[in-house]
Amino acid sequence: MLEMERARSLDIAAIREDFPVLKRLVHGKRLVYLDNAATSQKPLQVINTISEYYEKHNSNIHRSVHQLAEEATGSFESTRDNLREFVNARYREEIVFTKNATEALNIAARCIFEKYVKSGDKVVVTEMEHHSNFVPWQQLSKKNNAKLEIVSVTDEGELNESDLEAKLKDAQVFSFAQMSNVLGTINDAKRLTRLAHDRGCLVVVDGAQSAPHMPVDVQDIDCDFFALSAHKMLGPTGVGSLYGKRNVLEEIPPFLLGGDMIRQVHRDETEWNELPWKFEAGTSNIADVIGFAPALDYLRNLGMNNIWEHERRICKKALEEMSKIDGMKIYGPMNENKRGAVISFNLGDVHAHDVASILDSEGVAIRSGHHCAQVMMEKLGVPATSRASFYIYNDLDDLESLCSALAKVKEILK
Ligand SMILES: Cc1ncc(COP(=O)(O)O)c(C=O)c1O
Repeated sequence: MLEMERARSLDIAAIREDFPVLKRLVHGKRLVYLDNAATSQKPLQVINTISEYYEKHNSNIHRSVHQLAEEATGSFESTRDNLREFVNARYREEIVFTKNATEALNIAARCIFEKYVKSGDKVVVTEMEHHSNFVPWQQLSKKNNAKLEIVSVTDEGELNESDLEAKLKDAQVFSFAQMSNVLGTINDAKRLTRLAHDRGCLVVVDGAQSAPHMPVDVQDIDCDFFALSAHKMLGPTGVGSLYGKRNVLEEIPPFLLGGDMIRQVHRDETEWNELPWKFEAGTSNIADVIGFAPALDYLRNLGMNNIWEHERRICKKALEEMSKIDGMKIYGPMNENKRGAVISFNLGDVHAHDVASILDSEGVAIRSGHHCAQVMMEKLGVPATSRASFYIYNDLDDLESLCSALAKVKEILK
């Protein structure tokens, strides 16, 4: 409660000590890592947990009864409890481990289509979706003769409310990102879910960009599905999760078939395993799921509300300082309360890749390209943007390095 009222500032110097990669030099300069929307760096707590797992506990899970198997199974399943608590799901059965958010969104889309969407039905997404939350719906709609509706984005980088209301009418599913990976826009997931549920839609929330940066409460949002990726929230690559409401997960068919997801197999029929294992076919990415737990603990110890406030402070300053640069075009809302600290921009007519290359030579790592959101790029009328995205170990000194490196770009290319 107190945390909600007054955020505690993060001890950035202490946090940086936990991230070995931040100590390295790039092209002889201090690494300023501003590509967090692509993937975050990993603290020692995560790195050590994974190597300790391989050194001391490596085993397959859920099958053998020997000591190592019990240890591995215990740690794997306790990460599920940890993540349940982190997103405040009601039941542990509602947390399915996947290899990333993309796989989680594909499972949701496939299973929803198989159970609930018929020929002629309507599926709604938005123009600001990442390809992972766009292509599955587009392709499944084509295949099943459903209509894909795409909610437009305003010039301010927000969802067009009247378009949204019109498109939700008679739709079966609404899938949207809680935070855009291009515009940084925060969509009010709770309000949008209510809007969609009132019209009888199932709701899928893509939380790949939101879960690392803000408190997430799936019961409060009340969405039917919520997808996230561990690697964007201090955890290892190769791990994601699909939260699904228990009654919905019980109704939908499994996605992958094989070992682990069955209870009984006979010559003519198979009985599915209980939740959540019905959706976890084959040997899981055991080491990395176990390595996800210390990442969740790390974020929890800092406090998600404190992380959100820290990034809002940087975002506000970044919008102010970057706007002062001649020729700078920033995309997305200019109000830091409406967006996360992921800032896409173009600098005059300099190509985004040239900006990123010159910044790299200054030790500043950003992303350039279409950010897996080509529908949004088409809307913006550009082939690419540069994107600086901040996280818990970034501070105003990093913003200063970014702005000086941008000045260098102008100097070199004038
Ligand atoms: C909004 C959004 N959704 C989904 C994804 C896909 O995440 P992953 O590549 O980890 O599956 C990303 C990755 O950048 C993203 O930004």
